[in-house]
Formats: sequence, C-alpha cells, structure tokens
Amino acid sequence: MKNILITGGAGFIGSHLVRRMVNRYPEYHIVNLDKLTYAGNLENLRDIEEASNYSFIKADICDAAAIHQVFEEHKINSVIHLAAESHVDRSIADPLAFVTTNVLGTAVLLNAAKHFWKDFQDVLFYHVSTDEVYGSLGEEGFFTEETAYDPRSPYSASKAGSDHLVRAWHHTYGMPVVISNCSNNYGSFQFPEKLLPLFISNIVNNKSLPVYGKGENIRDWLWVEDHCQAIDLIFHEAKPGSTYNIGGWNEWKNIDLIRLLCQIMDRKLGRTPGQSEGLITYIKDRPGHDLRYAIDAHKLENELGWKPSITFEEGLEKTVDWYLNNPEWVNRVTSGAYQQYYHQQYIERVQKP
Ligand code: NAD
Ligand code: DAU
Repeated sequence: MKNILITGGAGFIGSHLVRRMVNRYPEYHIVNLDKLTYAGNLENLRDIEEASNYSFIKADICDAAAIHQVFEEHKINSVIHLAAESHVDRSIADPLAFVTTNVLGTAVLLNAAKHFWKDFQDVLFYHVSTDEVYGSLGEEGFFTEETAYDPRSPYSASKAGSDHLVRAWHHTYGMPVVISNCSNNYGSFQFPEKLLPLFISNIVNNKSLPVYGKGENIRDWLWVEDHCQAIDLIFHEAKPGSTYNIGGWNEWKNIDLIRLLCQIMDRKLGRTPGQSEGLITYIKDRPGHDLRYAIDAHKLENELGWKPSITFEEGLEKTVDWYLNNPEWVNRVTSGAYQQYYHQQYIERVQKP
C-alpha cells in the first residue's frame, strides 16, 4: 500500500500530478498537503476532490508539528515534494520567503521522513526540482545530470540548496531519494504571473506585453502533463539516489515565442493579423536574467523510455484554448483572498467542518 504525500498539490504542476496519481492509482492513497499561498488553489482539483483515495491537508511545510502529524496519521511511506515559492521575479523582491519555504521547508520534510522511516524499506523521498540550479548556458550546449550547480537567482539558489539537502539525507542517513530537474512548464492552471498565462490574459484584455530586455533569452518549454508523466515514471522506476533531467528539446527565444503566441491569439480572437503584436513593450531587463536554459533529456529517454506525448504546437493550442475557455478562473485566482474562500467552500462541501 502506498500512502503518498504530495506537497504543493494545489499549485500548477502539483494539481496536474495529484489528478494523475488519484485517477491512475486507485489503490494508492494520495495526501495533498498545501499551504494555499496565492499560487495554490483547490479549485484546480474540483474534479477529484471527492475521490475515496484522496485527502487534502492545509499546512505549511515549515511547520514540523503539522508535518509529523500527517506522517503519523496517514502512515506516509512516499513523498513527492513540489511545494515551493516558484516565481523568479518574486524571489528578487522577497528572497527570504524563498529561503524559508524552499530550504527550511524541505529540511523539515526530510527530517520528518527520517524520523518515521526507521529502516528505509519501501519508502521514497522524491524532490521535484528545476533546471535553473545549473545556471545559465551560452549559445551552445545542454544541461546534463553531471553539469555543476551554478544557481544565480534567489529562487534557483534556494532550489539548489534544497537539492543539496535531499542528497545529504541520502548520503548521510541512507534515505532513498530521487531528484528530477525540469525545464519551463506550460499548460492549464498556471498562475497568471508566469510568461505564457500572463501574456494570454494581457492579450485578451488589450494590455501591454512586458518583454524583459530585448526578448533574446531562451527557455526550453515542456507541456505540464508530460512533466507529470515523467515524474510518475521516475517515481516508479528510478534507482534510489538517482537524478533525471526532464525537458522537451524545445528551445524558444522569448520574442519568437511571444510572436507565435500573438499570431495564435489573433486567429482565435478573430483579430486583424499583427494586432496582438502591437501590444509588445520592451521593458527593463530582469536583474541577473539567465540567458539560456536547455535540457539534455537523453538519460530519461534511454533508461526509462520517456518521450513527450505531444508537440509544442499542439500543447500551445490546448493551453490557449483552456485560458480562453476559463476567463473566470484567471479573474478569481488573481483577486485577493480567493484561495481561502474556496478552501472554506471545500471544507463545507467535502471535509465537513
Ligand atoms: P506553483 O507556484 O504553481 O505552486 C506551488 C504550490 O506550493 C502552491 O500550491 C503553494 O500554495 C504551495 N506552497 C508554497 N509554499 C508552501 C509552504 N510553505 N507549505 C506548503 N505549501 C506551499 O509552482 P509550480 O510551478 O507548480 O512548481 C511546483 C514545483 O516544481 C516547484 O518546486 C518548482 O520549483 C518546480 N518546478 C517548476 C517548473 C515550472 O516551470 N513551473 C519547472 C521545474 C520545476
Ligand atoms: O526553468 C524552469 C523554471 O521556469 C521554473 O523552475 C520556475 O519555477 C518557472 O517560473 C520558470 O522560470 P522562468 O523565470 O524561466 O519563467 P517566467 O515565466 O517567469 O519567464 C519566462 C521567460 O520570460 C524569462 O526569460 C523571463 C521572461 N519574461 C517573463 C515575464 C513574467 C518576460 O520577458 N516578461 C514577463 O512579464
């Protein structure tokens, strides 16, 4: 019997992962633990919230007492850890929040796991991490699992710190752990502060599209459900102590991606070709802006047979359609205390006060 604690399950990637695990593995018990920050939203999981193999707990991963209680009550024997502060711009404005949740919170989880998993049999601590820990590439080359860490923003430094802690618990105490480092995800339920959902929403509302610097930075984009498929595979197949990079071999210069998005939006909204591009505004660059990320995903492909299931063109169309069909979701998650309001509704509907 697997009792899996998924942290950050109300966020963007976490909600896709929780849905996948609840639906695919009715024999597992999935415990979603989330603090419901501005980025966490239980409405993302409306379709599975009453499943008999699913529980939700509102808690902070830094709260050791709450975490111990969850391990004890639910007999947790696996952790898939996604809870984090995840937005680079916010990390520049408020780095301590990132150190607290990403570094301290990860240590609290590791310590609880070590406390409850006495002999480390049939247990796993899986940390979902980012390619940003490797730093910034020039025009050539790819990040492999052997690339030296060189994080450069408070966000990536805090994620690198949490990766190091996970490996330390493996080497020092023998805890079975796995880490994956993934490139930029896109898809439904992504909070509209990240590039794609922000720009989709701004185009709909005829607001300007703030491109940092000259728009020449390069990111490697992967559909969120393909990331979750990779996590599922790695969770079940990877050797303890291993690391996998996850990416879609799909590099885009920001400005080229933004122009493509503008063309799709003009078509979908019935606007004159070129109308959305007129909203592009070049603004001051993000401080310390990493030039290029690109993942070498050979290890995951060769060892575990993973490949992205859809092309970028298909994924982008699906994503744009989702945001166009769910404007009220965007309005709700960006309007203040909605997370707490929806949590209260959820308690009344599902958990009963
Ligand atoms: P997100 O910001 O959408 O969601 C983060 C979730 O964590 C939210 O539900 C939030 O409420 C929760 N959370 C934050 N602080 C918490 C705390 N102290 N205690 C409990 N819950 C807390 O993030 P995301 O984009 O879904 O990313 C999820 C994970 O994947 C992160 O660890 C991130 O570093 C990693 N990652 C993201 C990407 C990407 O492109 N988005 C790529 C690679 C790796
Ligand atoms: O590489 C994985 C990482 O990808 C994850 O670990 C992070 O959690 C995730 O947020 C993402 O980080 P980025 O900084 O790459 O994502 P963001 O969507 O913020 O920005 C993508 C690119 O677009 C980046 O080069 C900055 C640029 N940008 C972003 C915004 C929000 C703009 O030019 N204008 C904007 O308004």
